[in-house]
Amino acid sequence: MRVLDLSKLDISPDDTCDIRITVETDSECDKYPAKQHARKVAAKLGVRDGLIYLVGKATINWGDSDQPRPFRQRRYFYYLSGVEEADCYLTYDIRNDLLTLYVPNFSLQHAIWMGPTLTVDEARLRYDADRFRYFAALRGDLNAWVDQYNKDSPIYILHSTQKPEISSEGLLLDDTSLIPAMNAAREVKDEYEIRMIRKANEVSALAHRNILENIHRMSNEGEIEGLFLDTCVSHGSKNQSYEIIAGSGPNAAVLHYVKNDEDFNERQLVCLDAGAEWNCYASDVTRTIPLGKDWPSAHAKDIYAIVEEMQEECIKRVRPGLRFRDLQELAHVIAIKGLQRLGVLKIGTVEEIRQSGASSIFFPHGLGHHVGLEVHDVSAQPITANGHWPREFVPEMSTPLLQEGMVITIEPGIYFNRLALENARRLPLAKYIDLDKAEQYIPLGGVRIEDDLLVTSTGYENLTTAPKGKEMLEIIRGHRE
Ligand code: GLY
Ligand code: MN
Ligand code: MN
Repeated sequence: MRVLDLSKLDISPDDTCDIRITVETDSECDKYPAKQHARKVAAKLGVRDGLIYLVGKATINWGDSDQPRPFRQRRYFYYLSGVEEADCYLTYDIRNDLLTLYVPNFSLQHAIWMGPTLTVDEARLRYDADRFRYFAALRGDLNAWVDQYNKDSPIYILHSTQKPEISSEGLLLDDTSLIPAMNAAREVKDEYEIRMIRKANEVSALAHRNILENIHRMSNEGEIEGLFLDTCVSHGSKNQSYEIIAGSGPNAAVLHYVKNDEDFNERQLVCLDAGAEWNCYASDVTRTIPLGKDWPSAHAKDIYAIVEEMQEECIKRVRPGLRFRDLQELAHVIAIKGLQRLGVLKIGTVEEIRQSGASSIFFPHGLGHHVGLEVHDVSAQPITANGHWPREFVPEMSTPLLQEGMVITIEPGIYFNRLALENARRLPLAKYIDLDKAEQYIPLGGVRIEDDLLVTSTGYENLTTAPKGKEMLEIIRGHRE
């Protein structure tokens, strides 16, 4: 609980920072491990001194408007602070292992209109740093550090646009090393981060389940978006990890369809890719849901079964040391065999078809990605390239191995996108595809199933608990008149 003790509010005209706000907490503070992250980044930088300087996201308005844009903290800043408040800064003095958080100067106007910004006392209780200072102290502190150390130790910044606002004459800056170091630090999650991703997944599961229980009452994609958001916000997830994708019928074949405003009419399936965010950590969950009493067609049932097999076969192989690219290849092989059984792929061996790129017409995206502070989280190297690259064309740099503590998605899909199929007609790979047959599947759009997997020492834990497959169907049926 936050108590502003006005009797202790002491604002002098010449020093608006000298305020006293009493903060009491009524719960054990579970601090974000910012200091541990700062040390990890320094280790990835591989240096013993220097100053990491990070600028938090500022309050900004929409263009030509007096209304603020919804605030979204910069993720690199959050990683070293755990602070989701605007207009903050931080420094980490590597040699002295000193993490300092700078909070905005007190502004009476801001306090009256928007509520008070963080005070240093409150910040001390809530965050894991060594020093807490007002912004007014930042320039002096930076100058003092520069005078003492900057001759041989650089200030590490993320971008050349984020230079500290001090005299730049002779300043030793490094704007190239920090991003790769932070990306490498962020790729393996610690226990706290896993807890946040797990919680984000719990809220997503509630929201997906709510959609399944109510889908039979709905007739428009917008209702899905509305109910999903309602459930997440009501359960404490104010933000989504990404824009909700609720594509019915052919819209399910548009990978990042976000208009979500069309009627279902006679459409067969809806692809719902939606994930709640929890304390800046993402979940990324896709379910493809029948819009009829049962599977609306053999086509829909068959494609769902292939994608389900792609996902199950890939998930069960997840473990440390696995080359993720090999899983992606396995998913393509299962897709090819399945589409051959249906006659959508008509000639050629599995290998020939894969090499031609024909399976990428139906499965054009990568099998997965890291999940963390970003839904497509950063890492030292991407775990996979997109689906257009058969094995031979994937450069070596794109083949890192899974490690314990990584959180990744496994999200196979098969889509029948009219534009992709039209385009395929003109390509040499067209000879492998029965395009007339493939066109018959266009009305169902596509199927994607996506879960978030934690790589454990012995294998994996599936963090996504949203119903799918049989359980999904039972929920839909159980709630039918
Ligand atoms: N929701 C975006 C993705 O699945 O990558
Ligand atoms: Mn994803
Ligand atoms: Mn997704």
